[in-house]
Amino acid sequence: MSFFKRTIKDIPIDRKTVLVRADYNVPLNKKGEISDDLRIRASLPTISYLLKHSAKVVIMSHLGRPEGRDASQSLEPIAVRLSELLQKPVIFVEDCIGDKVVQAVKKAPNGSVILLENLRYYPEEEANDEVFAEKIAKSTGARYFVQDGFGVVHRAHASTDAITHYIPSVSGLLLEREYVTIAGAMEHPKRPLVAVMGGAKVSDKITVIERLVDVADKIIIGGAMANTFLTYKGHHMGSSMVEPGQEPVLDGIYQAAHKKLDTSIDEFIILPTDVAVAAEVSEAATRKNVKLGNLNETDRALDIGDATIERAAEEVSKAKMVIWNGTLGYAELPEFAHGSARLALTLATNPEIDSIIGGGDTADFVLKWDGNGGESFTHVSTGGGASLELMAGKKLPGVESLLDAPR
Ligand code: 3PG
Repeated sequence: MSFFKRTIKDIPIDRKTVLVRADYNVPLNKKGEISDDLRIRASLPTISYLLKHSAKVVIMSHLGRPEGRDASQSLEPIAVRLSELLQKPVIFVEDCIGDKVVQAVKKAPNGSVILLENLRYYPEEEANDEVFAEKIAKSTGARYFVQDGFGVVHRAHASTDAITHYIPSVSGLLLEREYVTIAGAMEHPKRPLVAVMGGAKVSDKITVIERLVDVADKIIIGGAMANTFLTYKGHHMGSSMVEPGQEPVLDGIYQAAHKKLDTSIDEFIILPTDVAVAAEVSEAATRKNVKLGNLNETDRALDIGDATIERAAEEVSKAKMVIWNGTLGYAELPEFAHGSARLALTLATNPEIDSIIGGGDTADFVLKWDGNGGESFTHVSTGGGASLELMAGKKLPGVESLLDAPR
């Protein structure tokens, strides 16, 4: 699948000042240190390409959801990590508009990298404010704008939408790769395509599941979301987390599946036949395997059970392509990460299966699990909400606003 937007490869960027939107909204630990740098590493191909063309690279991003200036959400630690990864200095500017930016960009020679302070220190960013976007464009004096923050293109903000009204705007290499991989998998999947959906809530993923009913050959449901499916099917789930009010949604999903299938629906939407339970979610809790029908009042399902893990691994090993979004249990606790770990292992040890891992919690899990920085999988997405919206077939404002690819 080719990308429908112009990229940095389609424009003459040699020795130009180029403004790049990255998504450096990375997790920080209690000490304010970066606990996962996937999004920073993923931005390197675009930056390196621009540097190879002697461009002056000015990068902007948001971090967290600050209300006004907040030192704990500064992008300065990201400048330090980016500099280590690029093995060259990164100039950090304590603002994203105004004279500090103008002076820093003027002073920096071609081939420099400049990182601006958190865009969300200004409420105008999320308000998609035209005046703010024009200020960013003018302060940086950029000749081109490059959208490479895949994780944020589902937002219509000043740095994803309004900015494109002031500078010719193209895609970076990360955005292109994410889009082509994820939209390509949904539009032209290798078959059999097995979708594995987990996480807490059905309501977060309804539109994706609805689309997968059309696209996938099998859908495996795990995580707390499975409790909601199992309750709908009439199973007693003890004290498990179950999302109320989802019956109409699940009616719709099963009706759509019925229309598509001549085989048994339970062979298409695969639900757990057993679960791992504990009385409480805690480090001290131990895993007890229980078949459906045998849960008592205090049991909380916190992972898929051993027989379900075997079944899921078997289905996944028969696939040519697997799309995985959402952990299969309470994966922060090792006792309840068995399902997710086995799935990660099956994908990592079968490199002939194209494995596309959704961002957010699933990416966090596989990156911690994988000693290889995520390289054991075909694609680990840097987008949480953005990857879900793309999978659901929605238009992404930060992509739509870019120049169309030349015909
Ligand atoms: C993300 O982490 O999903 C993106 O950076 C977007 O952040 P937001 O949900 O705060 O807009």
